[in-house]
Amino acid sequence: MSILQLLRLLADGRFHSGEELGTALGISRSAVWKRLQQLSAEHVLALHKVRGKGYRLEQPLSLLSVGELSARLPSLTLWVEDCVDSTNAMALKKLAEPAVALPFAILAESQSAGRGRRGRHWVSPYGQSLYLSYAIRVERAAQLQALSLVVGLAVRRALQSFGVSNVGLKWPNDLLVSGCKIAGILLELSGDPADVCHVVIGIGINANLLDANGIDQAWTSVQRVTGCPVDRNALAAVLLEQLDCVLAEHREHGFAAFHEEWEAGHLWQGCEVRLTSGVHEIDGRVLGVTLDGALRLLVDGVERTYSGGELTLRLRHDS
Ligand code: BTN
Repeated sequence: MSILQLLRLLADGRFHSGEELGTALGISRSAVWKRLQQLSAEHVLALHKVRGKGYRLEQPLSLLSVGELSARLPSLTLWVEDCVDSTNAMALKKLAEPAVALPFAILAESQSAGRGRRGRHWVSPYGQSLYLSYAIRVERAAQLQALSLVVGLAVRRALQSFGVSNVGLKWPNDLLVSGCKIAGILLELSGDPADVCHVVIGIGINANLLDANGIDQAWTSVQRVTGCPVDRNALAAVLLEQLDCVLAEHREHGFAAFHEEWEAGHLWQGCEVRLTSGVHEIDGRVLGVTLDGALRLLVDGVERTYSGGELTLRLRHDS
């Protein structure tokens, strides 16, 4: 039995005696205590230890269930993993296997090397947030246009349907509530974008995260915003349904079908911003986005457009 199965036993939030846990794991009661301390520190989980009762997690974990997800999404090929390095990395490996059915989704309870944009690490503690990769086949280069913006809309719609009504988009694809990040998107491409290729759409949503180590920016979570824990299977299912729906529309009509919705959800529409690309900084006012998903800025009275994965947008402090 793996150490993570200890967390599965405790996921219900009830008391479990050291003896019961030790028997399930085939280890001594003192070894149980040591492992629990390690797990609770590693995954930032609050654990209560009460003499005569045993151990319980302060908050139950809503764990992923392949059965529940497959029942809601019967035609989707899907994998649910306990711990992976990165669901995006795993999806890219799967794409290299012959005859893998597309689209497919990979979800994990935790990631040891979750990837963020611009080479950053995505903190991924066990059972608290959503880590999901969705792999699709792209037949035409036009399907890549503004793809990450369209994915942002799917995530926004999913969050809204779980009560996060004030979620906004930050170009190109961050999702924020009151200035705090609630979800992020990382698209990774495999193959030749000028020909048939595959895209792995990686999405991380802070679902029931209340406490975390190592996140280097202001963050929030669904539970922090709404005040109650979210059923992660339900959130994942709605997200996958929304993704399927927006991707089908995007394939058919392009970003034009989403342009208005995207700009309406854009937090910094009309704001004075600073765009950073490496050592270069450009100050301007946000006019909106083009049909390719590029950012339109008014710079010194002239409209300019910007696109690319390495750009960072910040609000200008003097605005
Ligand atoms: C960002 O920096 O905002 C993008 C974060 C994307 C994180 C998700 S979690 C699931 C998928 N697997 C990864 O390794 N990264 C993405």
